[in-house]
Amino acid sequence: MPKEKVRYRCSLCGYESEQWLGRCPNCDQFGTFEELKISPTAERKREPPQLASLKQVEIASAERLSSGGEEMDRVLGGGIVKGAVILLGGEPGIGKSTLLLQVASKLCERGNVLYVSGEESPSQIKLRASRLNINEERLLLLSETDINAIADSIDLLKPIAVIVDSIQTVYHPDLQSPPGTVSQVRECTFRLINLVKPLGIPLFIVGHITKEGTLAGPKTLEHMVDCVLYLEGDGVHPWRILRATKNRFGSTNEVAMFEMKEEGLVEVKNPSFELLAERDKHAVGSAVTAIMEGTRPLLHEVQALVTYSPFPQPRRMAQGIDYNRFVIMVAVLEKKLGLKLYQQDVIVNVVGGIRIEEPAVDLAMAMAILSSAKSQPLPPDLLIFGEVGLGGEIRSVPWAQSRLMEGERLGFAKALIPRHNLKKITPPPNIKVVGVSNLKEAVAVIQGGEEW
Ligand SMILES: Nc1ncnc2c1ncn2[C@@H]1O[C@H](COP(=O)(O)OP(=O)(O)OP(=O)(O)O)[C@@H](O)[C@H]1O
Ligand SMILES: [Mg+2]
Repeated sequence: MPKEKVRYRCSLCGYESEQWLGRCPNCDQFGTFEELKISPTAERKREPPQLASLKQVEIASAERLSSGGEEMDRVLGGGIVKGAVILLGGEPGIGKSTLLLQVASKLCERGNVLYVSGEESPSQIKLRASRLNINEERLLLLSETDINAIADSIDLLKPIAVIVDSIQTVYHPDLQSPPGTVSQVRECTFRLINLVKPLGIPLFIVGHITKEGTLAGPKTLEHMVDCVLYLEGDGVHPWRILRATKNRFGSTNEVAMFEMKEEGLVEVKNPSFELLAERDKHAVGSAVTAIMEGTRPLLHEVQALVTYSPFPQPRRMAQGIDYNRFVIMVAVLEKKLGLKLYQQDVIVNVVGGIRIEEPAVDLAMAMAILSSAKSQPLPPDLLIFGEVGLGGEIRSVPWAQSRLMEGERLGFAKALIPRHNLKKITPPPNIKVVGVSNLKEAVAVIQGGEEW
C-alpha cells in the first residue's frame, strides 16, 4: 500500500513545500508551517468524467427568497438565490450581525434558520433580538466554533438558511493554526460551501475586515463565494451603505441605504431626500451634485470653507472626497481662474459622512470652493456635475440622464453639466440644463445668470 504523502503549508500565506521550513520564503514569517496529509492518489478509483453538453444543460429554477427588504433584495440581484454563498464584510460594530438577524427573522417565515455565532452567546443575541423586536420560534441559535459540529448541525437540521457569524471564529480541528488564519478561514469556508450547495441552502458568512478595509483572510475567500457585500458607514452618522462588489447572480455596484435606529437597520427609500434634508439652500460654499451608486443616482451636498490662514503653510482638508483629487482641484482653480488660495485654508466635506469616489463630483467641489472664496452662495436650486481635467476642461460623465432626472425629482430647476453630455440627453421638462466646456464658462454661467 502506498505511503501517505506529507506536505507542509504556511498557515499565513498558503505557500506549500515538501519539507518543513522554519521560515516561510514567501511571507518571511517564522514557525508558520503546518503539516498537510495527502492521501495517495494511486488508491483512488477512476470514474468516467461527468460531462454535460451545453445545449442539453437545463437552467435551474432561479427561485429567490426575499431578504425582507426591497433595497437589500436589489443589491442581491433580486433576492437570495437558493444555495448562494454570501459574504458580508464591514468595520467592527457597523451592524453586520444586526442586518443578518433581521434577514434571518424574515427567512423564518419559510422554515428553520440556523444562526451560528462564535462571537456572541445566545443570551447576547437574544438581547439584540429583543431590541429589534425579533422573537421567532424557528430561529435556532448555535454557539459553536468547531466546523465539524457546525457541519453536523446543518446536515441534521437542513435549515432554510444558515448564517455564520463570523468565519474568523470558526476552526477546523485537523489544522494546527489558530482560528482566523488564512488556512483555517479557507478550509472552513470550503467545507461549508461544499455542504450547503448540494442542499440548496443559502449561506451568509460574516467576514472581518483588515485595517486597510479589505476582507481579512485569504483573497481566495472572495473568489470562493457567490456574492460579496460590504456594509459601510462612518460610525458617527446613522447612515449605512450596503454595497455588492461581486455577485454571480446579479449586477455589482448596486447599493442600498439604511439608517441605524434603536429598532435596527431601517431601509431608506428616498436617500437623496434624506441626504439633503438639513441643507441650508442659501449657504455660501454649498453645492449639490449627483453621484451614481451602481445604476442609481444619489444627490449629495458638497461643502467648502475657504478662510484666511495665519500659517505659512495653509491647511488643506478633505472629508468624503479623495485628497489628491481635492488638491488637484485647488491647483486648477488657482491656475485657471486666478483664485488666490495660497494664504487660505481650504476645507471640503461631503455631508452625511458619505464617501464619493466618482470624478463627477469635481465640478461641484470646484464651484463650492469658489462660492466660499467669493462669499457668494450658488443658486439654491442648482445641480452640478462633471469631471474637471488639469487644463480646467470639463469632461463628460456617464449616466447624465439619470442624474438629471433624480435632480428634477427632488425639485432642482437648473443643472450645470459638461457640454459633451448635452448631445446624448433629453433634458427633463422641469429642469433647465446648461452645458459648459471649461471652468471659466461655468463661472460665467453662474455669475452672469443670463441663461437662467
Ligand atoms: N440601542 C441602540 N440604539 C441604536 N443603535 C444601536 C443600539 N445598540 C446598538 N446599536 C448599533 O448597533 C451597532 C452594533 O451592531 P452589530 O453588533 O450588528 O455590529 P457588527 O458589525 O456585528 O459588529 P461586530 O463586528 O462587533 O460583530 C452599534 O455600533 C450601534 O451602532
Ligand atoms: Mg457582529
